[in-house]
Amino acid sequence: MKYIEKPKFIHNLWSVFEEDPNVYSLRTSKGYFEVNKDDAEIFLKFRGLCTGHHTQEEIARLSEIPREKISNIIQALDEIECLRVESNSKLLTEYDIYQKVKTACEMWSEQLEDTHLFNDILNGDHSIQVLKGFLLETYHYIKQFPGCIQAGRNSTDIQPLKEKLDIYYQQEVGHEVFILSCLKKLGFTEEEVTQSIPLVSTQSILNMIQNLFEKYPCSVALVARVIEADTYSEDIATEIRNALENNLNIERDILDGLIEHMAVDYSLGHAELIHELREFILFPDIDDVHYVLNSIHDIKHAFDVQKLEIINYYTHVGNYVPRQKVDFFGV
Ligand SMILES: [Fe+2]
Repeated sequence: MKYIEKPKFIHNLWSVFEEDPNVYSLRTSKGYFEVNKDDAEIFLKFRGLCTGHHTQEEIARLSEIPREKISNIIQALDEIECLRVESNSKLLTEYDIYQKVKTACEMWSEQLEDTHLFNDILNGDHSIQVLKGFLLETYHYIKQFPGCIQAGRNSTDIQPLKEKLDIYYQQEVGHEVFILSCLKKLGFTEEEVTQSIPLVSTQSILNMIQNLFEKYPCSVALVARVIEADTYSEDIATEIRNALENNLNIERDILDGLIEHMAVDYSLGHAELIHELREFILFPDIDDVHYVLNSIHDIKHAFDVQKLEIINYYTHVGNYVPRQKVDFFGV
């Protein structure tokens, strides 16, 4: 069944094309497409109504966009396979499912990288307070993430998968020291950092990840594809150091710990676990696949929320930096 009369689309992400502001770039699991600005902006005006609950006629009425314009745009999107199509899930092979899940993870990894707060910080878009906040949250995230892997490992009875997850755990545990070294250079003491707590959004990301790993231990490899570095080079390190000096007016070696961590994580190749653990990426039913994809999509959006919370919390006058725990004596 194709959602064309009551339109509904597959995951589609729109951004203004960097080289030409008159063109939008559209990314779906089917590829990259260029769309002219006018069509893209008209589409975005009515996209919110394309939930599969409204006919094209209703969408025209509710959005006050001519029916013919709507039909033309939907037809063009149909041509690039952007419409949602549901087939008999019983006919899907393990290969079909693996490929779809892998494509989604690659796409979300790209998006996370493109919209990452660290890029904006290096661009000079934020104050040094935001850099400090970003590092504090990254410290907590890196410190707790291995516990999530461990929870996944403890939830599977498949011995070879257990062993692979154990290796991933061993390779990641303790990496927060790389970030701690940067925080010390920025004036924090070790006690200040270790006794602080993460923002709610950071803790939520970790809770979401842990819940998913416990329910589907093989999803560790999928989430790793989304969050782990898939590129690193000495050029990237130099770009970071140059940006610190030129855009933030701080010493170029301040983030050497973070750069070293990038190099270490990249060399460990965890983004490749999705290939290495291929034989374990199996789901009993299509509903399990739906659940895992929706969870990973939510995790990606939780990072967007974290970005907003870091900017908000660490620039708001009067907030404790680092964030303090509330306990019995604190109330
Ligand atoms: Fe790491």
